[in-house]
Amino acid sequence: MSASVTETGKAGLGAVVTGIDLERPTTEDGDALRRAFRASPMLCIRAGKATPESFLGLARVFGTLQRELMGVLRDPVFPEISLIERRRGVSTATGKAATFGGHWHTDDSYMAVPCAATLLYGEVVPPSGGDTAFTNMHAAYDALPAKTKERIADLSAIHTYQSRRNVSPVVERTEEEKALTPPVTHPLVRTHPETGRKALYLNPNRIDRVCGMALADGDSLLDELIAHATRPAFVHVHAWRPDDIVIWDNRCTMHKASPHEGDHPRRLLRILIEGTVPV
Ligand code: SIN
Repeated sequence: MSASVTETGKAGLGAVVTGIDLERPTTEDGDALRRAFRASPMLCIRAGKATPESFLGLARVFGTLQRELMGVLRDPVFPEISLIERRRGVSTATGKAATFGGHWHTDDSYMAVPCAATLLYGEVVPPSGGDTAFTNMHAAYDALPAKTKERIADLSAIHTYQSRRNVSPVVERTEEEKALTPPVTHPLVRTHPETGRKALYLNPNRIDRVCGMALADGDSLLDELIAHATRPAFVHVHAWRPDDIVIWDNRCTMHKASPHEGDHPRRLLRILIEGTVPV
């Protein structure tokens, strides 16, 4: 058995990799996975049932694991795994009926060093709905008019956990977690540290304002860029099957979860991969 890409998705995202033995991934499998991930910054790996240990082992193929900041999300036994769970129609992270991660975002941009990538394992998924949508921020950047590229080339924005513009319910942070995450400034266009490609770096949940612009002007620029980046042409939607492992690159994608009807539980295990300061 060896890794192979069996399907490609839409908008340069969503390749499906099969042929991995999760219990014993070979060096060649690791190389193939990293190559596939570079070509498709959102990948689905179909390799059957994972245990927490085999999921952690697979995640290490992509880099150094990063512990979730918020203690309330962490698995009590495996602290590098966090839980995204919906029970009886309510998110266990926020205690709200609204879908956790239900608006476009990239993970952890409110941190000085946001995670590079996120993996999710679909331990329990509903029979329909609960999809996760991804948008390709390289493609969105490439398609901008030259004038807009010039206008935003040197702009940066302030990202903060509970931003002025955020409409998603957030997980309550402890005082210690708040102290570790003051507002930070990141560029609106970032260069991927591995490929050198440029990508829009937006997070509708966490961007509070564009630096050096009047609030209203910054808001209308952000609205324009977000509307552009989330056009269907740049979007791939992942319909979960049980045991899917999905990985995405937070440096060049945004994502959002969709609601699902009824009370069917949905339980995903999440692992973060360490990143670098966005430039
Ligand atoms: C997330 O935003 O990290 C969760 C995505 C999902 O639940 O589909």
